[in-house]
Amino acid sequence: MPDEVVAALRGAEWVTVLTGAGISAESGIPTFRDALTGLWADYRPEDLATPEGFRRNPDLVWNWYRTRRTGVGAALPNLGHRALAAMEGLVRHFCLITQNVDGLHARAGSRDPVELHGNITRVRCFDCARQPASYPDTETVPRCDACGGMLRPDVVWFGEMLPEGAMARARDAALSAEVFLSVGTSNLVEPAASLPWVAGRHGATVIVVNTSTEGQRFGPGIFHLTGPSGSVLPDLVHRVWGHTVR
Ligand code: APR
Repeated sequence: MPDEVVAALRGAEWVTVLTGAGISAESGIPTFRDALTGLWADYRPEDLATPEGFRRNPDLVWNWYRTRRTGVGAALPNLGHRALAAMEGLVRHFCLITQNVDGLHARAGSRDPVELHGNITRVRCFDCARQPASYPDTETVPRCDACGGMLRPDVVWFGEMLPEGAMARARDAALSAEVFLSVGTSNLVEPAASLPWVAGRHGATVIVVNTSTEGQRFGPGIFHLTGPSGSVLPDLVHRVWGHTVR
């Protein structure tokens, strides 16, 4: 692990982290595309993750998300999630931004992650946006108690806006960061993809944690810790703060 990485984190008062599907890989959660197998192999992302697809076949989309939500419910946060929850208590100002919809950061103890793409364990009304208290585990699309509209997963579909306020919080945290960690993301889907480089342009040290360097940026102030986040992040927390992640 480069000394510059350890020194930058040790001295930092503001740390911002962006995570993607890679951090949940060791919890056994497939990415959206990886999950398009078996029964779902004949469908395209546009059938399952767009408002148009939902209007065309609400029961199909409902059951796709219900299946994935069941998988998420059976999974457990891993050492990578737990290392980030620990880091939050070790740094003065900390912000965790995630593109994942699995809710595993909160289950690992992270206090208020910015969920840019929503959360698969919640639903809201397609028409009035009201959120029922619990997840209705039905085989046909459930209806809103308030207006009778269809309930949908509370995630961001292709072509939809990010949740109000989430991107603003993420941007502010990127601009404030002295160190920005980009963990387990291919950094391809905007607007999240730009956040590490925005932080870097504003003087942050950027640390990329990924099993692969494919598609990632290189340059001054950018460091790559190549390996699974479930081992790299606990190692990092131990090296920098002497804290053992369990
Ligand atoms: N540790 C660290 N990185 C890993 C691990 C691991 N154990 N396993 C895989 N990775 C890396 C891969 O090398 C890849 O760079 O995680 C990244 C996962 O990339 P994507 O599947 O593209 O996931 P993500 O970047 O989160 O995708 C962004 O795209 O499909 C949409 O809305 C969806 O939120 C998602 C967004």
